[in-house]
Amino acid sequence: MLSLTRLIEKKLQEALEKVVKGQSDQSFVSEINCNPQLSPASKPEYGDFQANCALSLAKPFKQSPRQIAINIVDQLHKDDTFLKLCKPAQIAGPGFINLTLRESCLIKELNDRFIDARLGVPVTEKTCLADSPCQVVIDFSSPNIAKEMHVGHLRSTIIGDSLARVLEFRGYPVLRLNHVGDWGTQFGMLITHLKDVAPLALQQQDALELGDLVAFYREAKKRFDTDQLFQQASREEVVKLQRGEEPSKRAWTMLCEQSRKEFQKIYDRLDIRLIERGESFYNSYLQEVVHDLDSYGLLVIDDGARCVFLKGHKNGEEHTAPPVIVQKRDGGFNYSTTDLAAVRYRLAPIPQGDGAHRVIYVTDAGQTSHFAGVFEVAKLANWVPEGARLEHVPFGLVQGEDGKKLKTRSGETVRLCDLLDEAVERAESDLRKRLIDEGRNEDENFIQHVATTVGIAAVKYADLSQNRNTNYQFSFDRMLALQGNTAPYLLYALVRISGIYRKGGEHDLSSEGLHFTEPQEWALIRELLKFDEVIVLVEEELLPNRLCNYLFELSQIFNRFYDQVPVLKAPKKSRMSRLALCRLTAETLRIGMGLLGISTLERM
Ligand code: ARG
Repeated sequence: MLSLTRLIEKKLQEALEKVVKGQSDQSFVSEINCNPQLSPASKPEYGDFQANCALSLAKPFKQSPRQIAINIVDQLHKDDTFLKLCKPAQIAGPGFINLTLRESCLIKELNDRFIDARLGVPVTEKTCLADSPCQVVIDFSSPNIAKEMHVGHLRSTIIGDSLARVLEFRGYPVLRLNHVGDWGTQFGMLITHLKDVAPLALQQQDALELGDLVAFYREAKKRFDTDQLFQQASREEVVKLQRGEEPSKRAWTMLCEQSRKEFQKIYDRLDIRLIERGESFYNSYLQEVVHDLDSYGLLVIDDGARCVFLKGHKNGEEHTAPPVIVQKRDGGFNYSTTDLAAVRYRLAPIPQGDGAHRVIYVTDAGQTSHFAGVFEVAKLANWVPEGARLEHVPFGLVQGEDGKKLKTRSGETVRLCDLLDEAVERAESDLRKRLIDEGRNEDENFIQHVATTVGIAAVKYADLSQNRNTNYQFSFDRMLALQGNTAPYLLYALVRISGIYRKGGEHDLSSEGLHFTEPQEWALIRELLKFDEVIVLVEEELLPNRLCNYLFELSQIFNRFYDQVPVLKAPKKSRMSRLALCRLTAETLRIGMGLLGISTLERM
């Protein structure tokens, strides 16, 4: 209903402008805001929309808001286009204008949906260079080499993937970048240690598992902190690596390859596509970045380190934010320098860079001030083209059911592969129990397929359905429940609804035309027509939970309709129309879940 909403907004605005022009006293007119303040109706009995502008005009007009509302409505009722879309407007309370769409108008929208594979979601109109849609970069997942991928990376992966899917659906070219931590002093330690204790690991592919690597990393760190000679050797090793010396480079490549293979197993299970472009990619640009900042006069030497000092704002007052350090006293670069090089590269026009118009970073909220600093420096350095957006998409911590940091029973950090295994195992045991209860006999392939799909879907949906800004409590029991706002509930709703229209057989709507009589039908139609607005909202706010809530609400409204109105047993004309609603509901759920990165099932 996006275009319809915009049209009605325009009609209201025109009516409002006429009312303003008609005022005898024009002296204050330039100060008046002619925004009709249209929003969805707060209750279904008020219709579809309400406009609140009359209330804010009372003061400048020196008239009662009700009188202003009457004048606006009088103008609206002279507009034929408006009258074709809406029933006569109603005025409520002190001067709210309530608008209800005509049924003919809803039917027309609905008919458009039936023949539109995009379910009314328009391809973006925003264009950049050569009139093509603007390039988006999403930096997500981004685990660190030689370290285990943890639940924070899982959140980033799931949220980032869903945002990428929504933006791709809107027609943007999306570059999905995995900014892996593959560079830095830790490699010096690790390589030096491995040379001593497991030299084969640096020469032979597959000699190590990521788990071993993590253990070696821990040992190396311990030695580094206690052993002077080891420290010295590690530092030398980093220099060799940065100079690109062969044995060191080869060892590094090997370590990255081993981690990459482990990460890929997780991505495959989660159906995630990513392009790896780790920190090392920006190595050759770091010096340039510092040079660039220096030439803009942005660098200050503070205790030997080169920094950019920024002005922060807190409670309206200016204060000094912590400086962004771009080069350490020993000449080394750090996480911020790499991110500055990355943001510069991403915003630079093709072929020097990615030519991005919007760059989105999905990480835990702990990195908020890091990104605020990086974005601010990028602006000061003039790297951000007009209209381009840099956005940090933060998310809260993953907690156990006790509200503390998620841990295994023995107190260790949870490995992602174990977590996914457990979700699938539990989904399988729930399924086996249900099959027995329902007296069903299914083959093993079916059971494995359903359990895997449900288990992964549950983990993803539990994460996405929360407002990402809050901490999130991880609970297998809750995420796998067949009732409530969960993946199994939605998957099951979809299976059931598809079953209904399949039972209804083929139907040709064009010959019959749509015919609706019941309020439950209209409620479902109105909800179905909101899909496009929800998608555009997610594109803007980058909050996938909006889409989850919509799909859940849609399933509930569908259930009310199906419980209270006969479908398969209805007279022919109604039956066709109601089956069409079933089909559209199923299609909306399928596409909606697809945008969350959730695979759906035919049977379960
Ligand atoms: N590797 C980092 C971590 O594990 C996340 C990187 C996020 N992306 C970025 N451009 N800084 O926390």
